[in-house]
Amino acid sequence: MRGYLSHDTVVEVPAAVIWDVYRSLELGRLLNELLQDVIGKIEVVQGDGGVGTILNVTFPPGTPGPSYMKEMITKIDDEMRVKEAEVIEGGDKDLGFVLYRRRLQIIEKDAESCISRSSVEYEIDDKLEDIASQASTKPLEILAEVVGKYLKEKRSSSN
Ligand SMILES: *[C@@H]1O[C@H](CO)[C@@H](O)[C@H](O)[C@H]1NC(C)=O
Repeated sequence: MRGYLSHDTVVEVPAAVIWDVYRSLELGRLLNELLQDVIGKIEVVQGDGGVGTILNVTFPPGTPGPSYMKEMITKIDDEMRVKEAEVIEGGDKDLGFVLYRRRLQIIEKDAESCISRSSVEYEIDDKLEDIASQASTKPLEILAEVVGKYLKEKRSSSN
């Protein structure tokens, strides 16, 4: 079976400001600083942040199931402001997903705010319905909220 989940988060920073962070390795650096206890520790295995870059995420201690995942960045579209990554080892792949793709998209709202759309696309054997139900956009939603808030505060303190 295939599935698709999506959730929109309103972020109070201009689209271009948050996209600059989302599209680059700065995102991993920020997540290590702000969300290591929630998302895990992110290390670059290879690449400069562009398509083909491989990241290794070590989940926080005590996380049930796999202890890490390797993710490959498969798309960065500066025009549509879309970034996609697929799990290539560990994590959701270990759980049984054939495909587990995370997508972040920034959609302009007005000069000072935008929408961060978090989506997950997956493919899994029909027999693994229970595991399919674990697919979630939650980590991406938390990322959008925390990174958005951080950038908003950074902007207002530098004005
Ligand atoms: C990825 O992280 C796991 C868990 O921390 C580790 O065992 C593994 O060696 C790492 N792989 C690479 C390629 O860094």
